[in-house]
Amino acid sequence: MHFLNSAAVLLTAVTWSKSDGVFDLTRSDRLPVTTPKMISGMIGGRKNAIIEPSRTGLVIIDMQNYFLHPGLSPGATKGRAIVNTTVSMVDGFRKAGIKVLWTNWGLDDFDLLTMPPAFLSGFSANGSDLQNETFGSDMGTVDGIPAGRLLMRNQWNSQLYGPLHPLQVEGVDAGTDFYFNKNRLSGMWGAQTPLGLFLQENGITTLFFGGVNTDQCVWGTFLDSYYKGFDVFLVPDISATTSPQYATDMCIYNADGDGFVVNSTTILPAIA
Ligand SMILES: *[C@@H]1O[C@H](CO)[C@@H](O)[C@H](O)[C@H]1NC(C)=O
Ligand SMILES: *[C@@H]1O[C@H](CO)[C@@H](O)[C@H](O)[C@H]1NC(C)=O
Ligand SMILES: *[C@@H]1O[C@H](CO)[C@@H](O)[C@H](O)[C@H]1NC(C)=O
Ligand SMILES: *[C@@H]1O[C@H](CO)[C@@H](O)[C@H](O)[C@H]1NC(C)=O
Repeated sequence: MHFLNSAAVLLTAVTWSKSDGVFDLTRSDRLPVTTPKMISGMIGGRKNAIIEPSRTGLVIIDMQNYFLHPGLSPGATKGRAIVNTTVSMVDGFRKAGIKVLWTNWGLDDFDLLTMPPAFLSGFSANGSDLQNETFGSDMGTVDGIPAGRLLMRNQWNSQLYGPLHPLQVEGVDAGTDFYFNKNRLSGMWGAQTPLGLFLQENGITTLFFGGVNTDQCVWGTFLDSYYKGFDVFLVPDISATTSPQYATDMCIYNADGDGFVVNSTTILPAIA
């Protein structure tokens, strides 16, 4: 069999197949398969799918101190409550040989020069101090820790929260995990991003999504990935938001049409 390996072929949706209510996402008619895994009993209308682990990634969005630390986001109780579930998900994906892709706000000074006003305003302290209290401004100290510049890369406020930070460092050192900076809510917007380039170069077609906030950065990255042709899975029990429930309901409703919806409790036994 002749195996093609261009991004266009990898992402060609017509190479899904379906029989007996099972979506086969492995593209095995064109690409080699290793140990495909069947995930059954998913939430929503699409109940069963088969994935190819070597072409799959787990994308964890924005589980950063800025969004989760009680000193910076006191209201993020739901986000803090999914930290342990996220740790279990990461452990299970590593054991299954599936890449873990930490994707976070991590601006540099060039990003600040080109940041649109709507973003500067949206991330400002009160929507009116457009320049001084938004991306890149010094956040002072939090619990005696210098928080650094707001959502700039390599600052304490942009570091992963709690046990997720050592987990990520350990995974990147071991080569099971990869770390990507992003400069918008979506990590997949525009012509190309660090995450998008990695997916293309590694032939990844299938993505699972968790993190915060479900309806904002998770949803933005999920939707852009769907638009670009990736198979997308939203994982509600490793996703959280500070928004009203209807915002999450909208994401779950649409994710079931764009891709798939399934909890970690269903995925982990299936890929073990
Ligand atoms: C998360 O796991 C840690 C370590 O096992 C435990 O101490 C903590 O109570 C757990 N938190 C929640 C919210 O379950
Ligand atoms: C905006 O927030 C800053 C700091 O939090 C404060 O000093 C300033 O007075 C606020 N401006 C308005 C218009 O609320
Ligand atoms: C930002 O802060 C500087 C110095 O405190 C002040 O002169 C300037 O007016 C502020 N700009 C805005 C947009 O608030
Ligand atoms: C999936 O997880 C969400 C969030 O924890 C929960 O509300 C929902 O009941 C779970 N669904 C199933 C079928 O386990």
